[in-house]
This record gives sequence, structure tokens and C-alpha cells, in this order.
Amino acid sequence: MRLTARFLLAFVVTMAIALGVTAWLNLGRERDLFDRDLRSDSLLVARLVAHTHDLAMQVGDAPGAAAAIASANQIHAGIAVEVVAQAQAPAALQGALAAGRPGAIRDDVAGRLDTYVPLKVASRPAAIHVAAGLDAERRYVHGTKRRAAIASLAALLAAAAVVSALGLALIARPTRALIAKTQRVAAGDFTAPLALRQKDELGDLAGAINEMTDDLARAQARATREAEARVAAVEQLRHADRLMTVGRLSAGIAHELGTPLNVIEGRAKMIREGEVAGDEIADSARIIGEQSRRITTIVRQLLDFARRGAPDRGDVDLVATATQAERLLAATAKKAQVALAAPAPRAPVVVRGDAGQLVQVVTNLVVNAIHATPPHGQVALAVDEVVAAPPRPGAGATRCARLTVTDTGAGIPPEVRDRIFEPFFTTKDVGQGTGLGLSVVHGIVEDHGGWVEVDSTPGAGSEFSVYLPMP
Ligand SMILES: Nc1ncnc2c1ncn2[C@@H]1O[C@H](COP(=O)(O)OP(=O)(O)OP(=O)(O)O)[C@@H](O)[C@H]1O
Ligand SMILES: [Mg+2]
Repeated sequence: MRLTARFLLAFVVTMAIALGVTAWLNLGRERDLFDRDLRSDSLLVARLVAHTHDLAMQVGDAPGAAAAIASANQIHAGIAVEVVAQAQAPAALQGALAAGRPGAIRDDVAGRLDTYVPLKVASRPAAIHVAAGLDAERRYVHGTKRRAAIASLAALLAAAAVVSALGLALIARPTRALIAKTQRVAAGDFTAPLALRQKDELGDLAGAINEMTDDLARAQARATREAEARVAAVEQLRHADRLMTVGRLSAGIAHELGTPLNVIEGRAKMIREGEVAGDEIADSARIIGEQSRRITTIVRQLLDFARRGAPDRGDVDLVATATQAERLLAATAKKAQVALAAPAPRAPVVVRGDAGQLVQVVTNLVVNAIHATPPHGQVALAVDEVVAAPPRPGAGATRCARLTVTDTGAGIPPEVRDRIFEPFFTTKDVGQGTGLGLSVVHGIVEDHGGWVEVDSTPGAGSEFSVYLPMP
């Protein structure tokens, strides 16, 4: 039930009880007054008739006495006067009458007030009996009841109308405005402050809500600014890490560029020194063109990778990505005397993602593994498809591509394990590592809707697994 309706109901019930009690008390008082008047009128009539009767009987005027009774019966239709033997009076009045005192008794069942006044002059103990009917009183009480009921009802209706109007203006309307405002705030709309002019608790509440909304709006603006600054900082870190990766890959890049350059130089030399003739010249020119295009492609890929910009999503084959990383890092692994194994050939495992960023992920993991592995150790890349659940409470299992980098290196000590994904956390010497690699891996994989799992045994090696949801 609505607040105003409850107040109205409570008010109407209270008022009805108050009006009822007042009417009942008034009615009782009026009935008492009526009863007192009737008793005194009846006693007066009885005394007068008794006196007149006694006077007539003293002079032996029995007809005069009878005439007094007869004329008394004419006074009022509601009154009957007669002479009765005292023995006929109700037992409760016998004592008083015998002692010469008057008495009266009310009989509500018969609807009568019986008043007795003893006669002084009579052959045997007698009394004047005045029987007054209670009809008039009943009619009066009935009328009073009806008037009280009508007046109470009218007062009740008028008060209810006033209370409803006040409740609507002071409670219902402002409460509705407050509810609408809180709903707008809950939906993230902090504009349009509440304008309640009333100076009561609801007005105070509206003021408090306006203040709270202003605070929320300020906090939201601050949070947005901070989030934007964080995103910009992370993007900057990623870009720095990307440039560093290009440096790390330089040996592989030199090798990739070296092969076509050797071919070009060889063919050019053959033409220059006249070692080829006829069709062979055209053939050499075609080979030179092909190798030049290969160099152009490698340089463009390198530029694409180092370039700053928004992720460029497309279908990426993780097997090809891992194979490419293996080829580029082969020279680094060889220098460290570590055997680097490419993923086993298999059908493509395709995910939606940014090819450049995914190369960065694989490269960072493999470089870490090579650094952690002593000479004659092994680092292996593997790609497969699994059904796995993200490490979030309540998350369901989905089909994922899994890229695993396993090494037989130093492993990760437990006290370091929880910190390796922090930006700038490194156990390497100054100048050897910046501690950005794994935090960038973590950021990119999360951006792709995936997660990273680490399994490491100190002294035996580590396994980093990247899970990426498959379309
Ligand atoms: N395969 C691994 N085996 C053992 N420890 C590892 C391995 N990979 C990472 N770590 C530990 O995690 C730390 C953080 O790695 P991360 O790649 O973030 O930074 P880094 O390699 O130290 O520096 P860089 O910014 O040059 O990559 C490393 O310093 C190392 O202690
Ligand atoms: Mg690293």
C-alpha cells in the first residue's frame, strides 16, 4: 500500500474512533439529563395530585379527590395517574412508601417510569402512581444518534479529503520525484538536480541526493581521466617493448635479409662478369626481382610491427606465428647454445587477433625461456586446441587455442612467481632486462580475451601457456 494511503487510513480510523467515543459520551449525558427531567416532572405531578387528593379527602370530598385524579390524567398524553394500594407498588419501593417517602422505578422493558407518592389521608395505605412513558426519550435519543452519525461522517469525509490533498502534495509527489531521480542516478545519469522547494525531511533528502550525485559525477569524471591516462601509459609501454623486440630480433632479421641479398649479389655478379648469356640473363633478372620483393615484404612487416597504432584484428594462424618466431630467434638460441624446437607441423589453429601483437607475445616468451636456460638446454614451442575455463570464478569452459613455450631452464622461485607479470619487475642485471616483457604479454593476451598460465619447477624448467578463445 502507498505511503499516503496508509497515512490516510490511519488518520480516518483514529478520527472515526475519536468521533464515535465523543458521540457516545454526549448521548449518555443527554439520556441522563432527560431521565432526570422526567423523574422530577413525574414527582412534581405526583406530589401535586397527592396533595390535592389529601385536601379533598380531609373534608370528605371523595368526588373532588376523584376529579383531581381525572384532571391530572388530562395534563399530558404520555402520563397516566391513578390511586393504588401501597401493596401494589413494586417491592423495592414498599419500605420508602411505608415511611411516608416517595419513590420511583424505571422499567426499560415496559418503557415506563413509575413514580409513587404516599397519600396521607386514606382508609388504607395508598399512593398516587404516575406512569410516564419513555417513548419521547427514545425518539429523542434516536434523533440524536442520527444527527451525530451524519455530522461525524461529514467531518470524516472533509478531513479525509484535506489529508489526501496534503499527502499527495507533501509526500506522494516529492517521493515519486526522489524515486525517479535515484533511478536516473542508478542508470548513470548525474544531470538535472532535484528541485524540491519544501523545507522538511524530504526536502533535506533531496538536497543530500543532489550533493551525492555531484560527488558521483566528479568521481566518475576523475575515474575516466585516470583510466584514459592509464591506457595511454600502457600503450606507450607496449610500443617501447615492441621497439625492443625489433632489436632482439635483429639477428634473425639480418639472417632473413641476408639470404635474398646474397642471391641478388650473386646474380648481379654473374651478369656483370658475363657468366650468363641469352635466356639466363632474363632468368637472373627475374630471380633478382623476386628476391627484391621478398626483402620489401620483410621490411614492410618489420615496419608494421614497430608501428604505433590500434590493434589490427584478423584471422591469425598461431602455428605459423610460432614457426615465424622460431625462425627469427634461431640465431639468438644458437648463440646461447640452446636448442629451439619449432611447433610440430599440423593443421592451422586460427584465432581472431592482431598478428603483430601475437608475434610480440611469442617472441617475449621465447626470449625469456632462452635467457633462463643454460647452454645445452632446450626450449620448445607447441600449438594445440583445448577446451579450458578462464581462471575466473564462475567462468565456463570454452574451446581455445593454446600456445606453449617450455624450457629446461632455472625455473621460477615461489617468492618471484607472483610478481613476474608486474611492469618493470625483473631479476636480470641492470641493462639486461627492463621487466616489461611479461606485463606486455599479459596485456595483449587479455585484450584478445585470453589468459596466461605458468607452471614452473625451480631447477627443472618452466612452461608458459597462452590460451586464446577460438571463434
Ligand atoms: N621462462 C622463464 N624462466 C624463469 N624465469 C622467468 C621466465 N620468464 C620470465 N621469468 C622471470 O620473470 C621476470 C620478468 O620477466 P619479463 O619478461 O617481464 O622481464 P625481463 O625478461 O626481466 O625483462 P624484459 O623487459 O627485457 O623482458 C624475469 O626477470 C625472470 O625473473
Ligand atoms: Mg623478458
